[in-house]
Amino acid sequence: MAEFKQARPGAPVAEQFMTWVDNRFPATKLFKEHMSEYYAPKNFNVWYFFGVLSMLVLVIQIVTGIFLVMHYKPDAALAFASVEYIMRDVPWGWLVRYMHSTGASAFFIVVYLHMFRGMIYGSYRKPRELVWLFGCAIFLALMAEAFMGYLLPWGQMSYWGAQVIINLFSAIPFVGNDLSLLIRGDFVVGDATLNRFFSFHVIAVPLVLLGLVVAHIIALHEVGSNNPDGVEIKALKDDKGIPLDGIPFHPYYTVHDIFGVGVFLFIYSAVLFFAPEGGGYLLEFNNFIPADPLKTPLHIAPVWYFTPFYSMLRAVTTDMVTVFVVIVALAGILGFAKGGFKGPWKFVPLVAAVVVAVLLKVFDAKFWGVVVMGVAVLILFVLPWLDRSPVKSLRYRPTWHKAIYGVFVVNFVVLGYYGIQPPSTLGSVISQVGTLLYFGFFLLMPWWSRIGEFKPVPDRVTFRAH
Ligand code: HEM
Repeated sequence: MAEFKQARPGAPVAEQFMTWVDNRFPATKLFKEHMSEYYAPKNFNVWYFFGVLSMLVLVIQIVTGIFLVMHYKPDAALAFASVEYIMRDVPWGWLVRYMHSTGASAFFIVVYLHMFRGMIYGSYRKPRELVWLFGCAIFLALMAEAFMGYLLPWGQMSYWGAQVIINLFSAIPFVGNDLSLLIRGDFVVGDATLNRFFSFHVIAVPLVLLGLVVAHIIALHEVGSNNPDGVEIKALKDDKGIPLDGIPFHPYYTVHDIFGVGVFLFIYSAVLFFAPEGGGYLLEFNNFIPADPLKTPLHIAPVWYFTPFYSMLRAVTTDMVTVFVVIVALAGILGFAKGGFKGPWKFVPLVAAVVVAVLLKVFDAKFWGVVVMGVAVLILFVLPWLDRSPVKSLRYRPTWHKAIYGVFVVNFVVLGYYGIQPPSTLGSVISQVGTLLYFGFFLLMPWWSRIGEFKPVPDRVTFRAH
């Protein structure tokens, strides 16, 4: 047993109390390690607000969720009416519900910005690979959480959205039908589906999310934060072992973050009070009609945060699969001619290309659409190993690299836009080009991230006092 510390003679009650606690639980030690003696780079900019904002939205979702569950009924016959009851009769119910539904969109906005910050400053690279991997797992859990939550109001879009997405699983060869049956718990989306989605949405996935967020922060605090310059501040320390460019997280960044939180709450409340449904983008109009298994809505689209991926799913037509075959064939030939394989291994790229091309043609386009949509998310996990740039931050990369990131963002937004729209010939072609650009960005990264003229990275972070 560790030795008990004694409070100073005549110490104030609060100090005596903390000594009592610290002798039994490392409260002060944890506070020092993660707050007052956690040295963060002094050059954080606005991009560094989105981590704490993600945490804030997570808390908002959990707290409002707890109150919603007090009045919500997870029963196909009662769910829709119970949400209307929350909106009309429960005191402040409308506010709690809108905070939760608008909160879902806010969550994705801050998380997308948070991820993009990681991308432009190379925060996923050594030694922060695990921070990134935990982040990607959080993103997956968040998508599952939002998808299952959307079924709960049991409106037309809840019902048909779930029907479409769950049906996608049946495109998986051999196990697909059984898998979608397992997810639904019935042959069509019904009460069983609602009950299991409710259970996952209110307890299973939030537990996983919380665990992952804790792991994310522990991993980050183990290696220390990156910064806009991509300079490792731990490389230069003073004689007390404190990084020269580091400042204690508390009070400097706790105070700094209050500003970011203030601005966020301002915008969030403005949407909440003046446009909680976001013109049909945050809560779709069709979802104010009770679920009707006999009436398919004319146009079924997921909520905006899923639409870039949904667009990629729809982009995979039979013609698109033919384009994939051509690309695979070209990659095989290139690998054969320039891959550097020796002896009999020389044929490996060609054989691999033939196998992939045959598989592409054997299974139907719907299946490959599901694969493309899934891989579009999963590819984020391997980002730390795709980027071969000699510098971390985009600041010190060739200017045309910045243009590539710009195109990536515009492309992602365009894909999102066409994912919301009803299918059209133009939309389909644009989504197909967008899908190729999206995958081109990642798959060609080992090549393009290495080339061009890189600027010298300074030893110390660049910082102007303000
Ligand atoms: C519930 C969702 C999330 C929460 C609450 C969260 C929280 C945080 C916090 C508080 C930080 C430190 C402050 C900051 O650097 O902004 C951080 C850093 C980081 N997060 Fe997240 N995060 C979430 C999701 C994600 C996702 C989805 C990814 C990527 C796929 C990600 C990747 C990162 C990376 C790479 C860092 C280190 C950044 C740096 O040091 O430059 N996070 N996160």
